[in-house]
Amino acid sequence: MKTLLYIKASPRDQRSHSHAVAGAFLSAYQQKNPQDKIVTIDLFKQSLPEFDAFAAESKYAIIYSKEKTDEQVKKWSQIEKLIEQFKSADKYLLSTPMWNFSIPYRLKNYIDIIVQPTYTFAVTGAGYKGLAGGKPLCVIYSRGASYDENSAMDFQKKYIEFIFGFIGFTDIKAIICQPMLSDEKTVSSAQANAVTEAKAVAQKF
Ligand SMILES: Cc1cc2nc3c(=O)[nH]c(=O)nc-3n(C[C@H](O)[C@H](O)[C@H](O)COP(=O)(O)O)c2cc1C
Repeated sequence: MKTLLYIKASPRDQRSHSHAVAGAFLSAYQQKNPQDKIVTIDLFKQSLPEFDAFAAESKYAIIYSKEKTDEQVKKWSQIEKLIEQFKSADKYLLSTPMWNFSIPYRLKNYIDIIVQPTYTFAVTGAGYKGLAGGKPLCVIYSRGASYDENSAMDFQKKYIEFIFGFIGFTDIKAIICQPMLSDEKTVSSAQANAVTEAKAVAQKF
């Protein structure tokens, strides 16, 4: 039995296009792999530890190999739980809207939690080394407008691929749902195309 971790980054529930496409992916995946477990992290519903002074100082304590204070240990144990949950999955699905050309702040909060030295990346004499990779990640991106692959305005897909690449992911698939702030016909055809693609990717995931 494998575990697929679904990270959901839109707060819009039923109205969310990225979530609708992810739903089609998950149904197709579960049909093909009934024995597998799907764990969902709903980033706007689940409470996440804030990456505050205690968390930041704990991170520096790891970087400089220093002892953590009691407060830092307490904070760090909440962060460690989420890193463990993240690392224990076998496959990953992430659905995220574009917000201000980038990603929603709750997803950034989650990334600040899971991207940690000694846990998900190492600093070696030869540079950085990702420690969390070797597993497939599929990302569903939704956007109000349309952006081509090399658009200078896209800090969404570029950033996600960079940061997950940084922690070791090499097998990253992208499903793009755009332009979702458009007329009804364009929106429903863009969503239908993304759903078809999501079902096809899920079959081989
Ligand atoms: C706070 C906020 C910021 C947004 N910023 C952008 C943007 O920079 N570029 C864009 O194309 N669409 C932008 N949008 C539109 C969303 O990306 C679009 O509606 C998308 O479908 C939302 O995903 P969802 O339906 O899964 O929630 C923004 C929407 C919100 C709520």
